[in-house]
Amino acid sequence: MLTPTAYLTSHAPELLLTKPAILQIATAFQTDLQKALAHHPSSLKALPSFLGVPTSQETGRYLSVDFGGTNLRVLDIELYGQGRYTIHAQSKVSLANAGNIDCTASACHSDTLFDFIAQQIADIAQPSMPYNLGHTFSFPSHQIDRNQATLLHWTKEIKTTGVVGLDINQALHAALLRQNLPNICPVVILNDTVGTLITAAYGNPAADIGSICGTGHNTAYLEQRPPNAPGPMFINLESGNFDQLPLSRYDCLLDAQSDKPGEQRLEKMVSGRYLGELLRLAALDLLHNTVPKDLFLQPTAAPWSLTAEQVAAWLLDQSAIAAWLQERMKLILPEQLAALQLLANRLCTRSARLVAASHIGILRHIDPALEKNHHIAIDGSLFEKLPGYQEAIRQALTETLADHAGMVTVGLCKDGSGVGAAIAAALATASRNK
Ligand code: GLC
Repeated sequence: MLTPTAYLTSHAPELLLTKPAILQIATAFQTDLQKALAHHPSSLKALPSFLGVPTSQETGRYLSVDFGGTNLRVLDIELYGQGRYTIHAQSKVSLANAGNIDCTASACHSDTLFDFIAQQIADIAQPSMPYNLGHTFSFPSHQIDRNQATLLHWTKEIKTTGVVGLDINQALHAALLRQNLPNICPVVILNDTVGTLITAAYGNPAADIGSICGTGHNTAYLEQRPPNAPGPMFINLESGNFDQLPLSRYDCLLDAQSDKPGEQRLEKMVSGRYLGELLRLAALDLLHNTVPKDLFLQPTAAPWSLTAEQVAAWLLDQSAIAAWLQERMKLILPEQLAALQLLANRLCTRSARLVAASHIGILRHIDPALEKNHHIAIDGSLFEKLPGYQEAIRQALTETLADHAGMVTVGLCKDGSGVGAAIAAALATASRNK
């Protein structure tokens, strides 16, 4: 048996990401990015968005749908140019409380999902007003133009059947017609990372990297010389699948019990879908190592029952989930709780430092000597709400970029994925009308 302090001494270092480790990950990330661009085997993808930098002159009224797996958001939005916009109406439903639909179950079928999305759109759209619609669909998709994308595979533990291989906007269009909404026309489909980046670029010409740090994790960037394209284009890396990473015992346990072992390794170390579960597994391991067998009480907290929100609350206030940890995880001793809180801190800081490492990999690809200004736009609940998360990303960049750190800014791009769909719809409509 170990004391909680001895447990920490032997296991907490696994979660530390030193500066050399960050640099090593950044190098491997850059290599994988370049392999993906060259269509060589890689854990990253280089999925073209067929969207380039907005001119900032994009204007008009659009509908935007943002489907990411946790929530469904619909916006009726008016763009005025130069980064300015107004949201006329919006709705947000959590897919966890969405009546008869549970997209995490394979019993849910594609028509049910798209009918549900179309119903939410019907609630926001003005009857018979013509709309062009931008669709943020936050899953790996093979795109052949701005409006044609097929789902490659689900991530974030979504299992709805019949969607893989479907032309997503065609399916949405068919559902809109079933809802008797011929006035709404999907004109563009994009990843949430691209939406975030396009929103930031609408008002800031230095924006060239966009990430989501929320339920899922992924990054897109602006490629100046995309293969087979005439000019700069936003590329979705599906970086949640990056796999050259120093794994801890908790990562291996989590991966083994996940829906798709071996996949989305970076996302499983970083994102909100997994942070709570990583901590529950850490608590279990701590218990097994610090409680003698004859005193061991089996915890009753089910897998996935500890959420990232709870972790965030606990980081701020020691007492926030202490009762939960005592009753459901059987962590009784104050030293066990203190040890677990340190592990929670380490897991959250590690998440931020891994994200920063991937950004450094991208920066090295787009500007090896770091001669230009870059802005990294990030949206998502972890970046917005997890205590210390933003600072940890900035700190990692400062540590590793040293004298050049001033060339790189990082900022929240709130609701960027939804707003970006409207800007992309404006871009798509403008090029169609040319
Ligand atoms: C998952 C999806 C990716 C998305 C990210 C953030 O990693 O595969 O497409 O961008 O989650 O929502």
